[in-house]
Amino acid sequence: MPDRRTFLKSSALGAAAGLPLLAACAPETPDVAQDPDEGAVAPIRPVALSTWNHGLAANREAWPILESGGRALDAVEAGVRVPEADPAITSVGYGGAPDREGHVTLDACIMDEAGRCGSVAFLREILHPISVARRVMEETPHVMLVGQGAQDFAVAQGFERQNLLTPEAEANWRTWLERNGETGPPPVNTENHDTIGMLTLDMDGNLSGACTTSGAAYKLHGRVGDSPIIGAGLYVDNAVGGATATGWGEAVIRAVGCFLVVELMRQGHPPQEACRLAVERVIEKNPDWQEIQVGFIALDRQGRYGGYCIAPGFDYAVKTPDIDELVDAPSRL
Ligand code: GLY
Repeated sequence: MPDRRTFLKSSALGAAAGLPLLAACAPETPDVAQDPDEGAVAPIRPVALSTWNHGLAANREAWPILESGGRALDAVEAGVRVPEADPAITSVGYGGAPDREGHVTLDACIMDEAGRCGSVAFLREILHPISVARRVMEETPHVMLVGQGAQDFAVAQGFERQNLLTPEAEANWRTWLERNGETGPPPVNTENHDTIGMLTLDMDGNLSGACTTSGAAYKLHGRVGDSPIIGAGLYVDNAVGGATATGWGEAVIRAVGCFLVVELMRQGHPPQEACRLAVERVIEKNPDWQEIQVGFIALDRQGRYGGYCIAPGFDYAVKTPDIDELVDAPSRL
């Protein structure tokens, strides 16, 4: 468990709007002294940042790894494995909503401080796609494996096949099929928000990111969203920062959203502003933007973070809390 130096909360602004986009875990009393040589604010480390409420449990899992000096990559993988295994989360891993044929198909990717990356898409019957993505990164010369090939690789690596469709998810799917089967998949919106995206910064100043999802509920069979696509659902550049996306993947892909967020941070925009500008680009590229939900969260190499999301009916921003807010905030573990 994080100790009293730990700060963990969902954005008050997001929570007030009924959509806690971002969960953060960072030092409660960061060292913010001016660096006498650089004149810059000393970095906040470590940090774990995740999307949505599922991020709270992911942060909690990642935090001991980070706080004890572990690697950002290990923390981010351990973190997102928690929602992957949680049957109550209907948009990630086990218990995720199936496609319209009744198959749970998973997308995930991971990226480390050296720009190495691994990804799996349209993967079936494997509980932890994020760990398979890591094996693709570490054990193969490739970045991305999909479908049967990804499953064969996972089994060869020692992962066990299992049924990921829970009775609850199957019942919901059958109800949906009876009511809506001919009308196509529902949009990703406030009732169907998805995707655990996570960014971590370790004590050595290294960043990593992970993104994992069962994708849009009742999608067409074979559909792959933004989450396993490096640059769209996730991007990390250790010299700048990282970003991950949530929401309607097609809209994120059209804007190459997370690469854009990181490039905006490279140009000097703080994380939250970079996320807002990227959302504006999504709006430009997607005429149906008022019907969909899209959000980004971002973490820069100094440990500053932010997020921005649009959803039908409203939009909102999540800002890095100022230091007073961090100190006064009660632990919300
Ligand atoms: N953002 C997840 C998806 O669209 O599949």
